[in-house]
Amino acid sequence: MSSSAPKVYPPSAEFAANANATADMYDRAEADPMEFWAEQARRLDWETPFDQVLDWSDAPFAKWYLGGKLNVAYNCVDRHVVAGKGDRVAIHWVGEPGDSRDITYSQLKDEVSRAANYLASIGLQTGDRVAIYMPMVPEAIVSMLACARLGLTHSVVFAGFSAAALRSRVDDAEAKVVITTDGQFRRGQPAPLKTAVDEALGTGDDAAASVQKVIVVRRTNHDPDLNWVQGRDVWWDDTVGEASPDHEPEAFDAEHPLFLLYTSGTTGKPKGIVHSSGGYLTQAAYTFHTVFDHKEGRDVFWCGADVGWVTGHTYLVYGPLSNGATEVIYEGTPNSPDEHRHFQIIERYGVTIYYIAPTLIRTFMKWGRAIPDAHDLSSLRLLGSVGEPINPEAWRWYHEVIGHGRCPIVDTWWQTETGGIMISPLPGVTECKPGSAMRPLPGISAKVVDDNGADVADGEQGYLVLDRPWPGMLRTIWGDAERFKDTYWSRFAEQGWYFAGDGARYDDDHALWVLGRVDDVMNVSGHRISTSEVESALVSHSAIAEAAVIGAADETTGQGIVAFVILTEGAESSGDELIAELRNQVATDISPIAKPREINVVPELPKTRSGKIMRRLLKDVAEGRELGDTSTLVDPGVFEAIRAQRA
Ligand code: WTA
Repeated sequence: MSSSAPKVYPPSAEFAANANATADMYDRAEADPMEFWAEQARRLDWETPFDQVLDWSDAPFAKWYLGGKLNVAYNCVDRHVVAGKGDRVAIHWVGEPGDSRDITYSQLKDEVSRAANYLASIGLQTGDRVAIYMPMVPEAIVSMLACARLGLTHSVVFAGFSAAALRSRVDDAEAKVVITTDGQFRRGQPAPLKTAVDEALGTGDDAAASVQKVIVVRRTNHDPDLNWVQGRDVWWDDTVGEASPDHEPEAFDAEHPLFLLYTSGTTGKPKGIVHSSGGYLTQAAYTFHTVFDHKEGRDVFWCGADVGWVTGHTYLVYGPLSNGATEVIYEGTPNSPDEHRHFQIIERYGVTIYYIAPTLIRTFMKWGRAIPDAHDLSSLRLLGSVGEPINPEAWRWYHEVIGHGRCPIVDTWWQTETGGIMISPLPGVTECKPGSAMRPLPGISAKVVDDNGADVADGEQGYLVLDRPWPGMLRTIWGDAERFKDTYWSRFAEQGWYFAGDGARYDDDHALWVLGRVDDVMNVSGHRISTSEVESALVSHSAIAEAAVIGAADETTGQGIVAFVILTEGAESSGDELIAELRNQVATDISPIAKPREINVVPELPKTRSGKIMRRLLKDVAEGRELGDTSTLVDPGVFEAIRAQRA
């Protein structure tokens, strides 16, 4: 890992000879994109075949696979059973305390059917929304698939989000049902979860009006005084568990909304990103097969993401299962009970494809190579990275220490909004450069442009845009079509391009480097958090008059949250106590993952004459750099006070 390390990593001849991806795919997709996407969609079982691939006449509102009907759950489960693969393990599940379950495709079909039968029995109708607020237990996946089976639109809310965050998502989607667990294991200890649901849903006048039922999976069984709302709350075992395992799936329109997933944006409340059935599943199935080189019946895939994020949706549920894969799902944190956990799991199940975030790679680096070196990792044959830019040093360490120099690495760029991977090397085809996501996948087109939409020269930084529609693209923002147009399509409205919100550049070899967000979205350990969300949590504390939040470079987490706050008149800076209260306020309003790493109480914030806070300069301070241009500031002197405060 010295400066003499290779600059490019070509695929081995052996890998290339057997790869699912081939170099000619780029040309084929380019020559006839519609035929290429039709071919990808035919990976799925359609009850009624589509008769038109794309209708883009009402851009940016896309329709893919018109006339086609399919059942997403049938595609992810039943069809493998029908094809005689029912005994294949779909999920090797590992619980945090060390318990485990192996679930075959036949068993998964029964479970999903039971859940579907119960949800139908309580009167849910096609198109109704179901909120899923669960840790990484198999029932989370069963619930998602049961919704898909019935044409219910699921909205998974990360179980690390607070009650307040859950409530706003339940209200926005008008969810009729919430599925949760009694508790969850966190670092060896049972912690409550249903309590947060009770708090979120409220009682009396304050009750969430849409919710009729709360279905509770027994996971930790630790709370003898668990609150129970008669008529609303039911145990999973007593309801789903008692339902029939036979259920006939119905086919739905390709454009039927499969799920909502809330994500942070530049301003205001989180947006419910809406994904379709046919197009989304096509993108999930195609990318899983091609980017992960998945070989049915041979590979054991492991994606370390939580089901509460889009990576969990596409590469823990819909991508692997639509391909009939065998996968590992792990409930807990990587250092529970100790730092060997991931490597023990790889060894135990013979994991062949391993997909994690750079933050975790950097954490492994900190723990030291003796830990992975103590395990037999020879089953691994492909490694993936997602969620944030991977620094070349982490890439090389991953390649050498985890992959033993033999595994291609796919650095995959995509977003909640894109539904599936968009930019990535093709394993077996691409010569990789550590740190570069390399090139848009066959069928996908991206550009790096300046403010006017002109291509920037190779080597120069610009905005990443997607200049053609793709099947997995978001269809709208739930209940807010205007915001959808505004957020993604107004920046380059004339050209009709999708604005990704990331900065990027092509290098001299035309390899693409994604440089991070150009908007007010922070990326902490691969989690998207908006500065304005954290700022409004901070100012909701009575002692805080104003707050400015930035993401500062952080060696492990990519970015760390740094806040600058001004006290209200008369409020006392009670030091550590106030800081602790503020951090709790953020945890309560959003999630513990959004707690600032550093909070600075300052006398003033740097502002322009028009009153805009100069976050760029605060970032310079937090990252210990010389200040950039301060000429537009009302009072450049504020930085002396800010610096003094941080010293
Ligand atoms: C960032 C996660 C660099 C990017 C799948 C994007 C990346 C945001 C990469 C989306 C990557 C994701 N290299 N940056 N390989 N992958 N990002 O919606 O800033 O949680 O816009 O989706 O993560 O985050 P989201």
